[in-house]
Amino acid sequence: MTKSTAVGVIGCGYWGPLLVRNFKGLPNCELKALCDVNEERLKHLKSLYPEVEGATDYDHFLNGLNLDAIVVATPVKHHFPLAKAALLAGKHTFIEKPMASSSAECEELIDIAKRNGLILMIDHTFLYSSPVRKIVDIVEAGDLGDIRYINSRRLNLGLFQKDINVAWDLAPHDISIILHILGEFPVSINCQGNAHVTPQIEDVTNMSLSFRNNRFATIQSSWLEPRKVREMTIVGTQRMIVYDDLQTHEKIRVYDVRVERPPHYDSFAEFHYSYHYGDSYIPHIQQEEPLKVACQHFLDCIASGRQPLSSGQAGLEMVRILEAASASLNMNGAPVDFSPAEELPVAAKTGRNLRVVEAPARAVGG
Ligand SMILES: NC(=O)c1ccc[n+]([C@@H]2O[C@H](COP(=O)([O-])OP(=O)(O)OC[C@H]3O[C@@H](n4cnc5c(N)ncnc54)[C@H](O)[C@@H]3O)[C@@H](O)[C@H]2O)c1
Repeated sequence: MTKSTAVGVIGCGYWGPLLVRNFKGLPNCELKALCDVNEERLKHLKSLYPEVEGATDYDHFLNGLNLDAIVVATPVKHHFPLAKAALLAGKHTFIEKPMASSSAECEELIDIAKRNGLILMIDHTFLYSSPVRKIVDIVEAGDLGDIRYINSRRLNLGLFQKDINVAWDLAPHDISIILHILGEFPVSINCQGNAHVTPQIEDVTNMSLSFRNNRFATIQSSWLEPRKVREMTIVGTQRMIVYDDLQTHEKIRVYDVRVERPPHYDSFAEFHYSYHYGDSYIPHIQQEEPLKVACQHFLDCIASGRQPLSSGQAGLEMVRILEAASASLNMNGAPVDFSPAEELPVAAKTGRNLRVVEAPARAVGG
């Protein structure tokens, strides 16, 4: 029988309780403790899960409760010190996105985890979602042809963050999906944006990532939009996909459309673009909560010693891109190149070979 993993969650604000609910409902997992500096939040969570220990003191939470794994769901500026202490205390560690405030911090966490043989996983939640996994399957099967570009929009009103701008808050979702689909790290990035509400904290950003072979991706992120939008278009030479995450049942539609230039022509009159309009279809997607799959994956990696799909390396790649976006923002959108020497092994690419084990279908809840 597999040993049950004793898990503790630190940060019981907006996102932490979702992690708590999911870990609580998984087999081979004992959600054992919660930690928050805010006593009101802790009291509320304790009223939902009376059997779980509550702690305001991180040292006691970390060293006094016999936990195997720690889940960090605090604001980003606290990720590094809390995760570092957890890893140094010998705990497998799951950190919310983005992994940390700088790539130097990410590198240090990766190093500590490696030296101590611990699992370090970053919550790039969308990599565990059925629509994204379906898109990757369709792309890998070659159905889209060569990908020309990807356009992503993630817009809504709020939630305004105090310590990070909208690119660091929302774009990690799009970046993780794009790197996973393309399976490579960008060669350059530029980002423009504006801080309309909180000085110095951009609430609207437009980012472009350039990849080899003329491929590129654009990401629009906003906390200042009247409507919620979660839309991505993936344009291939043969077919195109529109992914609308707000749809309940028809999140992905594959369009059999393309346009081609004539290979040769003698006069302008002979020159006609060739438009192909075929059918569109909606692939069947299994309904499951991505966060539940991510939490199960963390437990599976602890049990098997396998590297997670969204490893510390993937978290580092993400933060490198976000740092470059911030540098570009400070230069009014001037491009920032990643030199070949800076290039990372691309966790996105190696991660594509890893299959997420399906979480068994069972009810979750407190
Ligand atoms: N994966 C996703 O889709 C997703 C969605 C939302 C938020 N997040 C991430 O989750 C994290 C938390 O975001 P949130 O919106 O829940 O924030 P929040 O501000 O609502 O909650 C954070 C909680 O952490 C507590 N806290 C702060 N510092 C602490 C410390 N040093 N020790 C103990 N507790 C501390 C606060 O009291 C608060 O209860 C962020 O990293 C965010 O990027 C991820």
